[in-house]
Amino acid sequence: MSHRRKSIVAGNWKMNLDAAKARSLTEAVAARAGEAGSVDLVLCPPALYATTVAAALGLAAGNSASGVALGGQNAHEKESGAFTGEVAPGMLRDIGSRYCILGHSERRTLFGETDATVNAKVKAVLAAGLTPIVCVGESLEERESGRTEAVVSAQVLGSLAGIPADDLAKIVVAYEPVWAIGTGKVATPQQAQDVHALVRSLLARLSSPTVADKIRIQYGGSVKPDNAAELAACPDIDGALVGGASLKADDFLAIAKAFG
Ligand code: 13P
Repeated sequence: MSHRRKSIVAGNWKMNLDAAKARSLTEAVAARAGEAGSVDLVLCPPALYATTVAAALGLAAGNSASGVALGGQNAHEKESGAFTGEVAPGMLRDIGSRYCILGHSERRTLFGETDATVNAKVKAVLAAGLTPIVCVGESLEERESGRTEAVVSAQVLGSLAGIPADDLAKIVVAYEPVWAIGTGKVATPQQAQDVHALVRSLLARLSSPTVADKIRIQYGGSVKPDNAAELAACPDIDGALVGGASLKADDFLAIAKAFG
């Protein structure tokens, strides 16, 4: 599978595992990262275990010999201050993170994040020197009522408003149809490719076709070893944001290999 863009496969562990399991999963992925071939690998653990994962990746020493990167699952939009329970982008950066997931549908639906919130977070995460992984996606009801294009367009344009083209060039977008998350119902390659092409055209509108051509767009939602290859074969699918299957080293690496 040859792609114009280097694929990026990230594991979103959500609120799962404990410290010992976080460490052993990280060690297993790091030890076997080479199996994935030419693909950027990212682990996004719960914030509390980020230092555990950083240490297991050898990030505390500066660089990761395995090439596996660390990412946050969320960050606050302010640099510091009286925000009890929150994590600042600079803190994620400080412990060796390179990425941060923003605007995941669980943040949007369960924690009230709007496109404006996500936009503020994207700016803060970029300012801290991290790469945002910006999530968008329609609900089942929105898809069934023919509003996928309108919903995803509003999310992309709202979440990325006012971001200069040279910053846009650095971001990653994740298309995650809400109805496919944790349900075992993966989007068909055609459904995913159609929305990815739409997202890329919106990115071109926000910057230029040249910049949009460089931006990596991941698919997320029930990605498994047995459906990864057909998704990876789509021209605008540049990787995966993996939930459940990222909790098992074998499954995560098999998915990565399909994109490598
Ligand atoms: P699942 O892979 O468990 O469907 O989760 C997808 C997801 O939400 C990744 O961010």
